[in-house]
Amino acid sequence: MKETDGDKPAPGDETAAAITIGSEQRTPPFPSETVSDDYHPELKLDNGSPRSLFRLCEGGGLEAARASRNRPVLITGGAGFVGANLAHRLLSEGRPVLLFDNLSRRGVEQNLRWLRATHGNRAQVEIADVRNALALARAVERSSQVFHLAAQVAVTTSLDDPSSDFEINARGALNLLEALRALNDPPPLVFTSTNKVYGALGDVELVREGARYQPRDGKIREHGIGENRPLDFHSPYGCSKGAADQYVADYARSFGLPAVVFRMSCVYGPRQFGTEDQGWIAHFLIRAIQGQPLNIYGDGCQVRDALFVEDLINAFMLAQKNMAAIAGQVFNIGGGPSNTVSLLELINLISEIEGAAPEILFGEWRTGDQRYYVSDTRKFQRATGWRPRVNVFDGACRLREWLREWLRERAPKAGGAARAVATG
Ligand SMILES: NC(=O)c1ccc[n+]([C@@H]2O[C@H](COP(=O)([O-])OP(=O)(O)OC[C@H]3O[C@@H](n4cnc5c(N)ncnc54)[C@H](O)[C@@H]3O)[C@@H](O)[C@H]2O)c1
Repeated sequence: MKETDGDKPAPGDETAAAITIGSEQRTPPFPSETVSDDYHPELKLDNGSPRSLFRLCEGGGLEAARASRNRPVLITGGAGFVGANLAHRLLSEGRPVLLFDNLSRRGVEQNLRWLRATHGNRAQVEIADVRNALALARAVERSSQVFHLAAQVAVTTSLDDPSSDFEINARGALNLLEALRALNDPPPLVFTSTNKVYGALGDVELVREGARYQPRDGKIREHGIGENRPLDFHSPYGCSKGAADQYVADYARSFGLPAVVFRMSCVYGPRQFGTEDQGWIAHFLIRAIQGQPLNIYGDGCQVRDALFVEDLINAFMLAQKNMAAIAGQVFNIGGGPSNTVSLLELINLISEIEGAAPEILFGEWRTGDQRYYVSDTRKFQRATGWRPRVNVFDGACRLREWLREWLRERAPKAGGAARAVATG
């Protein structure tokens, strides 16, 4: 793996060349020399400048380097929606970050360009894959904290290709844990799991009230689904993320790794390139702004709690701050009972904001879709004092503003926003 640190040219460099990601040709935001999966064990580059490993050894070894305040926070999947928002927060606080991402999610190179344009070379970038254990271990060695976000994120894709989904989500997480276990003083880890580990929640009795399902059980209605809920992995995505979730919890237990698991439900906000398969609030807004119809799978009364990304980043910060007290624990993280919305309710809200109702096309229910999921976040609240601040209406308005701006920027001069977003 070649170095991709802060000395590299800025985004938009004319020398950037197309690379192959899956079956696609893509142009990375950095020159192609930074995009390589082969590993060069030499401590110096051909031009004689020291590699980071050399610099670390020279400076008193890895342990000494880890003690330095300037070690970056490693964000795997750092080019993605959540990763870019997290990186922005950390960089704004003056902390360097290392974004480790293979750019497999369409459009995320825009996030890297934005981070580099906003924060310069303190946003270090490594274009690499979590399936590459060696590359990941090298990134982990350099870091002060770790957030493991890189993942295949769509249930639909996991159903098409369960093996790749497993390799990325389960094997990738194990690669990370093994890299951490190899260190004497491993950096603390926050892992992003999912509410899908609780399955379809078919035993939670629901009643339909207006345009939403509500649990019959008063306690669930008041507080949502807690961490004591039995695991019940549905879909290959549920299995691969669930396996990773359990590995992280167990590496904390068996090997004493400082690590926590966040089981997250629907997160939304700026820099989210939502598609039909993942990121539904952003996807609905994009379609509505474009005046295009929306597909709803099921009856649209399924309910989620929605968490604005800034509130999630606050929770990430608190998790790292309180790591000594909470390591080894699993937390349900979401907007909670005061920030719930059904698909139809969100469409009503969007119609209100946009001043026109989008056309809706109904389809069959999708595999593993929960009719109701709301996070009971009281455990994390008790541990850290965190609570979500942004309500769904305000959050949707802020995301809409960002999307409109993004679509405007992407629109070709003589074309329309609708065509521009088709690739996003
Ligand atoms: N956004 C949500 O609503 C939500 C809900 C629950 C859980 N999560 C979890 O949070 C994490 C971040 O989600 P997000 O919404 O930012 O997704 P995202 O798709 O925007 O970001 C994921 C990033 O991981 C990268 N990636 C994918 N495969 C990789 C690989 N093999 N090696 C390196 N990088 C790879 C992608 O290129 C992308 O930049 C994911 O683990 C996801 O499962 C998200």
